[in-house]
Amino acid sequence: MKKNVSSQRGDRILLICLAVLLCAFALEFYLQRKTPAAGAANETAQVVDTGSAVKVVTASHWQNEYPDEYASFLRNEENDQVVDYVEQYPIIATIYEGNAFGKFYSSARGHTFTLEDVSETGRPHGQAKCITCKTSDYTILVNTEGNEVYSRPFDDVMAKMNEAVSCYNCHADSGDSLVVTHAYLINAMGNDLSQVEPENLSCGQCHVEYYFAAEDQSTTLPYTSLETMTPEAMLAYYNEIGFVDYVNPRTGTEQLKAQHPEFETFLGEGSKHAGMLTCADCHMGVTTSSQGYGIGTYSDHYLVSPLEKPEILNTTCARCHEGDVAELVHAIQDEIEARTIEVGEKLVALTNALAEAVESGKYSEEELNAVRSLNRDAQFYWDFVFVENSEGAHNSELSRNCLNKAEALIDEAMALL
Ligand code: HEC
Ligand code: HEC
Ligand code: HEC
Ligand code: HEC
Repeated sequence: MKKNVSSQRGDRILLICLAVLLCAFALEFYLQRKTPAAGAANETAQVVDTGSAVKVVTASHWQNEYPDEYASFLRNEENDQVVDYVEQYPIIATIYEGNAFGKFYSSARGHTFTLEDVSETGRPHGQAKCITCKTSDYTILVNTEGNEVYSRPFDDVMAKMNEAVSCYNCHADSGDSLVVTHAYLINAMGNDLSQVEPENLSCGQCHVEYYFAAEDQSTTLPYTSLETMTPEAMLAYYNEIGFVDYVNPRTGTEQLKAQHPEFETFLGEGSKHAGMLTCADCHMGVTTSSQGYGIGTYSDHYLVSPLEKPEILNTTCARCHEGDVAELVHAIQDEIEARTIEVGEKLVALTNALAEAVESGKYSEEELNAVRSLNRDAQFYWDFVFVENSEGAHNSELSRNCLNKAEALIDEAMALL
């Protein structure tokens, strides 16, 4: 039976309307996926289902399905340069005295080197906890067997590790969606998990400040919300639980060793880009694809400085910055670096003065403890900047504030001697 003309036209209008609606939805979806979240993320990040079976373990499994992501992931091999910090910064021999970092401390390099580098730190490893951020095999082990894995013997566990940081760390089994697989970050975000963009959480799984909990040696972050994620609150927390990383043998100061707080620094107060950009926008970027998955583009999984990616400088950075953004980065880094050395030298002077005071026998234990406490706090603020990998570029205001606090505490301590 033939439909009459007007109902045919009605069908066609309906079809066009549907098509327009579909396009609008597709565009909306595309924009949501590719535009950095403005302000708080509106979706709660996906988190790993612990205790469940893991289907995909190796990166090579995804080679055919996601050839561009896989190929760019392998490029991390090219980021192979290391600097010997002990040689470059003689001050750390004193600042970290009593800790193996004062003797062996190499700079970071690409994700593909983690297995080699954790085995060759020159620092002794007793327990498997040190493997936390080095390989997806370990993340899978923790997620399937629980926190008991952290205190197993390092060598036994290490012998079974094959993959470096890998797809599973950021995507679990999914292949493409972002999944938080390191449960301690979920705990550390508490009720604020949905406030943080998945592209920041992804890197925050490892590029964070952490400690090992006394009861089971599990990797733990020293905060439970965004509000308590500041250097001040972290220090207050460490002081409250009496956490000690090492004791300086000459001064008796119970010291803290900060790690690599990129996540906390970038999201911290004073950040010029938090809420506008994510780690992925500046360190990955979207590149054109000639093959494979997606709509002609893919996220570049070669993770290096944005200054080494002209396509990011010319597109992402150029959206807001006129002129040479590399110059801006270097100017900030030069300032923060000089200030770090300046305050670091004062910290060395304090350490030596305190050691002499202890040696002299002229001070009461109470008087010495007052200086030790200031020394401990000053060093934490200093270290928070020294070990952060952007040298001030992520958040110069926060770095500057920490160094000023460190200096004020050093001056206060020196006045007591
Ligand atoms: C599972 C842990 C883990 C995750 C997740 C992770 N990283 Fe890393 N990253 C590391 C470790 C460990 C190193 C140091 C490797 C070495 O030196 O052996 C590193 C090194 C790097 C480096 C090289 C630094 C240098 O000085 O050359 C960059 C850049 C980097 N990561 C960026 C990122 C970004 C961006 C993300 C998120 C998309 C991310 N990382 C997620 C553990 C991780
Ligand atoms: C606005 C852009 C921007 C964002 C967002 C950003 N970074 Fe960076 N990052 C930089 C710059 C600039 C440097 C300094 C690069 C240099 O020294 O060449 C840097 C340095 C680093 C380094 C050291 C790399 C190296 O080669 O020395 C790591 C690791 C890193 N960032 C991780 C992160 C993580 C993790 C996040 C998210 C929590 C993040 N970054 C967010 C711009 C950014
Ligand atoms: C250190 C974390 C990290 C690792 C390791 C990682 N990815 Fe990704 N991946 C990301 C981030 C961040 C995005 C960007 C998501 C966005 O922009 O919303 C992404 C996006 C993707 C996408 C979506 C399409 C695209 O390109 O944007 C695919 C597919 C993907 N990754 C596959 C892989 C595969 C396969 C591996 C292992 C070979 C891998 N990823 C390893 C963090 C990671
Ligand atoms: C969405 C806009 C936007 C984009 C994109 C952007 N920036 Fe910025 N950036 C800003 C603003 C705004 C400031 C603050 C300017 C000021 O204080 O004068 C800033 C400041 C900075 C600073 C100083 C940060 C500090 O803490 O002192 C650096 C370094 C920087 N940008 C680097 C970059 C790099 C590298 C890129 C690209 C990877 C980039 N920016 C992309 C808006 C942006």
